[in-house]
Amino acid sequence: MELEKIITERHSTRAFSDKPVPRETIEKLLFLATRCPSAINIQPWEFTVVMEEELHRLSRILVKSLRERNISCGPGAVRRLAEHFMDRQRKLMDSIAPLLEEDTLFQDFINEGSCNFYGAPVAIIATIDTAFSKSRLVDVGIVLGYMVLAAHDMGLGTCPIGLINAFEDEIREALNISEEKEVVIGIAVGYPDPDAKVNRACSSRAPIDEVVRFY
Ligand SMILES: Cc1cc2nc3c(=O)[nH]c(=O)nc-3n(C[C@H](O)[C@H](O)[C@H](O)COP(=O)(O)O)c2cc1C
Repeated sequence: MELEKIITERHSTRAFSDKPVPRETIEKLLFLATRCPSAINIQPWEFTVVMEEELHRLSRILVKSLRERNISCGPGAVRRLAEHFMDRQRKLMDSIAPLLEEDTLFQDFINEGSCNFYGAPVAIIATIDTAFSKSRLVDVGIVLGYMVLAAHDMGLGTCPIGLINAFEDEIREALNISEEKEVVIGIAVGYPDPDAKVNRACSSRAPIDEVVRFY
């Protein structure tokens, strides 16, 4: 597929079909994603691929913790955000909420859905050694970008799951991840459910002149 088409077509998938994803497919996806650049080619990322019963177990743990701790998806801001950022968040809600079942609240759908990886057959947990400085999170962001595009080209749907950061301890324990690794992001991976309305959600983007300054 042409790169421009892959970039413009890709969107986050929040409903997956039951079709399993073979291990070789995930290996190919990670092979392609890790062809991305990284500072001095240090490739600071590490991945834990969670599937089948282990994924169900992890999802149960996260959903239980979500309910107990009353956690919610948000921008992770450390001070009040400017109105245009809040507006973008509202627009995302407006693009998804009308596609949900009548009695499903947007926040519940996103929070619980994120914790169970939207029912995807595969969850990839990206970690980084805590020896690295925060600057190396850029590299993990780049590998995530490559991964979602490569997945789309392979017919797979993805949804990055930043909410799992709130459950670092639970994830560490469930997946036996060492204290020396930081959980950066999860990625739900699977074949999109073609009948799910929510997969038709189309997120908007700010016009280029709103985010760019030529100097
Ligand atoms: C770092 C990061 C964290 C995200 N975390 C979540 C999440 O926890 N739950 C979720 O449903 N979507 C999450 N997303 C998906 C975004 O909501 C989505 O990428 C954005 O709304 C743009 O929509 P699109 O991916 O369909 O283009 C995350 C995306 C990124 C890049």
